[in-house]
Amino acid sequence: MSDKKKGIRKGLTNYGDDGFSLYLRKSFIKAMGYSDDALSRPLIGITNTYSGYNACHANVPDIIDAVKRGVMLAGGLPIDFPTISLHESFAFPTSMFLRNLMSIDTEEMIRAQPMDAVVLVGGCDKTVPALLMGAASAGVPAIVAVTGPMMTGTHHGERIGACTDCRRFWAKYRGGEIDADEVEELTNQLVPTVGTCGVMGTASTMALMTEAMGMMLPGGAAIPATFADRPRHAELTGTRAVAMAAEELTPNKIMTEAAFRNALRVLLAIGGSTNGIIHAAAMAGRLGIDIDLDAFDALGRDVPVLVDLKPSGQFYMEDLHRAGGLAPVLRELKDLLELDALTVTGRTLGEEIDALPASYPQNVVRPFDDPLYPGGGMAVLRGNLAPDGAVIKQAAADPALLVHEGRAVVFTSLADMAERMDDPNLDVTENDVLVLQNAGPIGAPGMPEAGYIPIPKKLAERGVKDMVRISDARMSGTAFGTIILHVAPEAAIGGPLGLVRNGDTIRLDVPNRVLELNVDESELAERRADWTAPPPHRGAERGYLNLFLDAVTQAPEGCDFEFLRKRR
Ligand code: FES
Repeated sequence: MSDKKKGIRKGLTNYGDDGFSLYLRKSFIKAMGYSDDALSRPLIGITNTYSGYNACHANVPDIIDAVKRGVMLAGGLPIDFPTISLHESFAFPTSMFLRNLMSIDTEEMIRAQPMDAVVLVGGCDKTVPALLMGAASAGVPAIVAVTGPMMTGTHHGERIGACTDCRRFWAKYRGGEIDADEVEELTNQLVPTVGTCGVMGTASTMALMTEAMGMMLPGGAAIPATFADRPRHAELTGTRAVAMAAEELTPNKIMTEAAFRNALRVLLAIGGSTNGIIHAAAMAGRLGIDIDLDAFDALGRDVPVLVDLKPSGQFYMEDLHRAGGLAPVLRELKDLLELDALTVTGRTLGEEIDALPASYPQNVVRPFDDPLYPGGGMAVLRGNLAPDGAVIKQAAADPALLVHEGRAVVFTSLADMAERMDDPNLDVTENDVLVLQNAGPIGAPGMPEAGYIPIPKKLAERGVKDMVRISDARMSGTAFGTIILHVAPEAAIGGPLGLVRNGDTIRLDVPNRVLELNVDESELAERRADWTAPPPHRGAERGYLNLFLDAVTQAPEGCDFEFLRKRR
């Protein structure tokens, strides 16, 4: 290989003598049995996000095997390397706190080690955005292979799957409809196979957005983790990575403004997770692209929800796969998409849509003129309570609450909410508006998925299923309800959400995109003057928490670290 910047010669360790560095590198890697022929090939890195804590990634070893096969069939040399693995329910305080750390790990390991292209193997919610953020910053040709969704299980004859049903049954338990023994029984069935959550949660959303953005080979997003199609797609991904290395098809050529708009249109059409907006903003920021919330809202007015999956609809990801995966969605949206956007195949999105297999009858993806939900699946709200915006997934809300005025019942922190929510003496009615403060990127910290504020126990026991709930937190894509999230700026940095007091009146008007606190400006000015920041988090004087609090941006900028965003 003559080009010093390719293959094993790439990014030589700095000893001040390149010849010595290469000689040393070759000596060490040959200890693993590689021949000179193997080491002369294009090197394809593969992120190994396997972890014994991460059931969503349990099939990563199989995917890596298949990717390696594909790379070798195309004449490359595959080498996998570890990166951080994040599972939603095994990350304290919350996986979002660690997403940026994973992206830094990914970026620096891609840059530090020789590779001509990289296959990004991810799946669980934060992993795909973290991998793409890192790869976008590293600037090496990159392609995504996801682990794929889990299958559904059954409970007492009813089909169930993580994690919309996890929440539904937990709400039943809180309402006294099922007992603790049945909850235990459910833990055997809610996650019956490996793979990512089987509904339109954040993992499914990010997989479909990634395919729509052009960073995954067509047809890959919805294949279940346990299907033979999954490693077959991974094998093709490995093969394509070798060609991408030769073509120097770097992420900035694919992840363009048009590609992000296409991904956001798909986010709306699939009834995807609100987390998709935050991750899109973070990924785009790595390439110097801003995701404008009002522009997103405007896109939403043209894009109906087409995919009939939980939590907005009735089906599961395995049904979407059988219905054709993303293909029928792209076909229905074709007139709205920017078809010139380039994809990892080297062809445009328009060319890929033209090459899709023939359609067939199915009932999971609705026709554009007969949608599941006619308005945008999500709306961006503004007003004196959210000057920099807030988000609601209106498709998963109670339509009767989309225009609502109610009395605020305020919880000042997650701990306060946990302590008082089930107090029988809590002064709350079903017409009130539950407000959670200090649960944003800095306040919590890490902006946990606590925006799905539980219905107070005494109301749940009376059968109340939904109320207007507002916070600066996020919500799992698997959750549902009239829930306003991502309020910016957040309460902990002095945002107006932190000025709300018990008994204030809050006005929500989703059709007109309004979120207002009915308190006059002079009173708010007094409260602002009296406001004090919450006490510092324990351990904040050092380490990653210190870095996080110092550098994290607000939700509209994707909660990325300011120093990781591309400088203009
Ligand atoms: Fe991993 Fe839901 S917990 S995708």
